[in-house]
Amino acid sequence: MESLLIKGGVPLRGEVRISGAKNAVLPIMAAALLTEDPCVIHRVPKLSDVRFMGQILARLGAEVHFEGDTVRIHARRIKGAGDYELVRKMRGSICVLGPLLARLKKASVSLPGGCVIGARPINLHLKGLEALGAKVTIKGGYVDVAAKRLIGSAMFLGGRAGPTVLGTANVMMAATLAQGVTVIESAACEPEVVDLAAFLNAMGARITGAGSPTVTIAGVRQLHGAEHEVIPDRIEAATYAIAGAATGGEVTLRGARPDHMRAVLDKLSDAGAKIERNDSDLTIRRAGPLKAVDITTLPYAGFPTDVQAQMMALMALTPGISIITERIFESRFMHVSELARLGADIEIEGPSAIVKGGRLLTGAPVMASDLRASAALVIAGLAARGATQVNRVYHIDRGYENIDGKLRRLGARIKRIEAS
Ligand code: EPU
Repeated sequence: MESLLIKGGVPLRGEVRISGAKNAVLPIMAAALLTEDPCVIHRVPKLSDVRFMGQILARLGAEVHFEGDTVRIHARRIKGAGDYELVRKMRGSICVLGPLLARLKKASVSLPGGCVIGARPINLHLKGLEALGAKVTIKGGYVDVAAKRLIGSAMFLGGRAGPTVLGTANVMMAATLAQGVTVIESAACEPEVVDLAAFLNAMGARITGAGSPTVTIAGVRQLHGAEHEVIPDRIEAATYAIAGAATGGEVTLRGARPDHMRAVLDKLSDAGAKIERNDSDLTIRRAGPLKAVDITTLPYAGFPTDVQAQMMALMALTPGISIITERIFESRFMHVSELARLGADIEIEGPSAIVKGGRLLTGAPVMASDLRASAALVIAGLAARGATQVNRVYHIDRGYENIDGKLRRLGARIKRIEAS
């Protein structure tokens, strides 16, 4: 199993090119199942989750070819999902449910269980598909959805923690081929949903309102092939911005979308980081000492849950007390005990973590538990004194393209090693 070995204490300096967004490309690849024509997707990040989605589509009968940062998907003929354990291995693969239902009128996937960040139910996905006329059966750990035909309808998709990103994606995709008009209220407003809608519209769908809480989809008889460039990954960009601030350096993000990152940039600025914007480039610099800030994760345009762990690493290094409240996933605090191994002083109180920042962090072996927790450990390791070994790097390779290479270009002393 691979590990990252980091010798901390070097301020990151230089430029990093931001890759395409993982959470945009996964549903966009699934959307290619909606047409018999070929689709071409550009700015596809090289990630294990993306390769896995490619394998799923290939198993469903699509031709999938990766070349550089482009993927060509041709789902001329596809078969039903059968008994694939899609969702167990990668929760993001739940987004094949909507396209399969729309194209084949049936689909079957294993029901996702809980995971380290929380319960991850799919009740809202199913509620939306049922509203379109699908019959949902749960049996033997699988969920089967089937419909003679899908009929547009108005629905409310808000849940306990607000809207659902992949639930909105699933229903939006299914509704493109439904008869009549579908209106999703309390739709997720994330840029990844907007990007998916842009791809679907390029395929001939009629979607309006994506990016707002009310999305309207006028069903069409069929969709055609399309070419699309995926938006830059706002979470990857935020991670490098925070790493720059944490190490006291100066990092320029090339090809980012600052307009997708306002909540994170606002907090970094409140914390005392200097931010300069030049079109799609952003430079983050730490001029002096940082200040502690409080953070609450919320649906977009609020502070993203996918940046909570990285920001906690920064606050652990910042003198003062910071209260970080997680409102999206109830147990997304697995990084707390690992940050403590480096010397961080953090207490969990219900949905909040109280970070008593400014302790000297010193390197230690730590265990990555999920994607963003691993990113937080890398940031803490880059800023800590001495050597940090982050084990179970496969978590980070799910969502960060070539993280060690990109960090080395910024001057970090980081290498990938084979560890038992
Ligand atoms: N929820 C329900 N019922 C549902 C679906 C969700 O109650 O049917 C709840 C969830 O338990 C959670 C909240 O709604 O409390 C939001 O979950 P959401 O459905 O929006 O999450 P997701 O679509 O499964 C995507 C990203 C996650 C990201 C979340 C929130 C992908 C592949 N995944 O997950 O990304 O944290 O949205 O923004 O797009 C990551 O990249 O590290 C990651 C976990």
